Amino acid sequence: MKDNPVIAIIGSGVMAEAMIAGILRQKVTTGNHINAADVRGERVEELQEQYGVVPFTDNLEAVRNADVVILSTKPQRIESVYSVLKGKIPEGAVVLSIVAGASITAITNGLDHKAVIRAMPNTPAQIGEGITVWAASRAVREDQIELARNILTALGQEVLADEEEYLDMATALSGTGPAYVFLFMEAMIDAGVHLGFPRRISEQLVAQTLRGSVDFFLGAKSHPAALRNQVTSPGGTSAEALYYLEKAGFRTAISRAVWAAYEKSKALGKGKNGEAPEK
Ligand SMILES: NC(=O)c1ccc[n+]([C@@H]2O[C@H](COP(=O)([O-])OP(=O)(O)OC[C@H]3O[C@@H](n4cnc5c(N)ncnc54)[C@H](OP(=O)(O)O)[C@@H]3O)[C@@H](O)[C@H]2O)c1
Repeated sequence: MKDNPVIAIIGSGVMAEAMIAGILRQKVTTGNHINAADVRGERVEELQEQYGVVPFTDNLEAVRNADVVILSTKPQRIESVYSVLKGKIPEGAVVLSIVAGASITAITNGLDHKAVIRAMPNTPAQIGEGITVWAASRAVREDQIELARNILTALGQEVLADEEEYLDMATALSGTGPAYVFLFMEAMIDAGVHLGFPRRISEQLVAQTLRGSVDFFLGAKSHPAALRNQVTSPGGTSAEALYYLEKAGFRTAISRAVWAAYEKSKALGKGKNGEAPEK
């Protein structure tokens, strides 16, 4: 693999900054080999000051000498990126897109470039604790796979999928996942406040309960049902609470929500809005 590859970033927003910070932390390349492009000049100047990257407001200029071109604009802006960069990505470069819903075929056609990687990270990537599922087109070389893996590792864990179809599934499970967790947290915190806890204490109790439960699960290597059984004594508080959660369809609600997000992701990828079941 080439030392200090040139990485061009098209759309230097929140996720791009997380990637820049991770790339530098993992020493994938140096700041002066990162071309950060954005429509807003002040944004890339800010990134230059903080990380020593090279700022651009012209996407075409930014990709000229690139080994990797990261696409990280919002999905609504991707067409304007295609229109400027079509046929202009250097031949030996790989495109790595984190744009939600943009398929490998759409990117390949939009840019007229064959080596394309599509990745779905999630929000905890911003603190290097994300998980990214990604897939590559046949034209991506082995050294480009390794380089992309190094870049994505900077965001947390990564899983290379054989089929692009897994990307829509990952969008529904891990990509959208933090939203489910935050809703659950919010409901628990509010329940604590309802009981009479000050909000600050309720937040602390809930956050540490979640963190501790996840760490316990990862360390114990048991099925979650086995861990749940351990804390469910006959006729006790957990049994009482779990009865109400099951009665309210907690498990089914989660399953249906994840499925609906999966259908929505597929529909958005085809340029449709999609219909959620029984709204
Ligand atoms: N945030 C997440 O946790 C997450 C998770 C998974 C996937 N993603 C995907 O990651 C992508 C980026 O998300 P984000 O949260 O980082 O978005 P963001 O903060 O809005 O960053 C996008 C940046 O691109 C700029 N931009 C717009 N049009 C451009 C163009 N034609 N050329 C160059 N730059 C342009 C935007 O400027 P303006 O603001 O002025 O338009 C903005 O600074 C999205 O496609 C999203 O679906 C995000």
